[in-house]
Amino acid sequence: MVRFSVSDCSIIELDRHHSERKGNLTVVENGITLPFDVKRVYYLYDVPGGESRGAHAHKELEQLIVAASGSFVVTLDDGKEKKSFFLNRPYQGLYVRPGLWRDLADFSSGAVCMVLASEVYMETDYIRCYQEFLDYKGME
Ligand code: TYD
Repeated sequence: MVRFSVSDCSIIELDRHHSERKGNLTVVENGITLPFDVKRVYYLYDVPGGESRGAHAHKELEQLIVAASGSFVVTLDDGKEKKSFFLNRPYQGLYVRPGLWRDLADFSSGAVCMVLASEVYMETDYIRCYQEFLDYKGME
């Protein structure tokens, strides 16, 4: 099993097509944009101010997290180190490797957090208890 750390995660600049008169368009295409193919897309919205989301890790899932609108902060944790990323551009995505704890917080009003995921939804891929996560990282 590959042991990923927070330093293996970074912001990917997405393809952006700009038109002076008609605005912007960003593309994500399987086989071109990301190191994984997208099997599922979901988005968080209407998150009340002060609320946080996430608080889990995935064993296998890879994700690209995009602030499709507004802004929020994603904090990644590999059990040893934490790193926070401020997302506020629809043409940037945070590439999150498997096996990392994530917290999403500081949602701006109207923020939309779009997640492109490498797998369909599987509850068995989640670790929702932080102590269990630390134990899991210790076993990696
Ligand atoms: P949850 O993972 O707890 O959200 P967050 O980590 O952002 O706080 O998911 C909230 C609910 O949505 C939970 O009942 C599971 C369900 N859900 C799906 O049915 N399919 C999905 O793809 C996702 C991401 C969640």
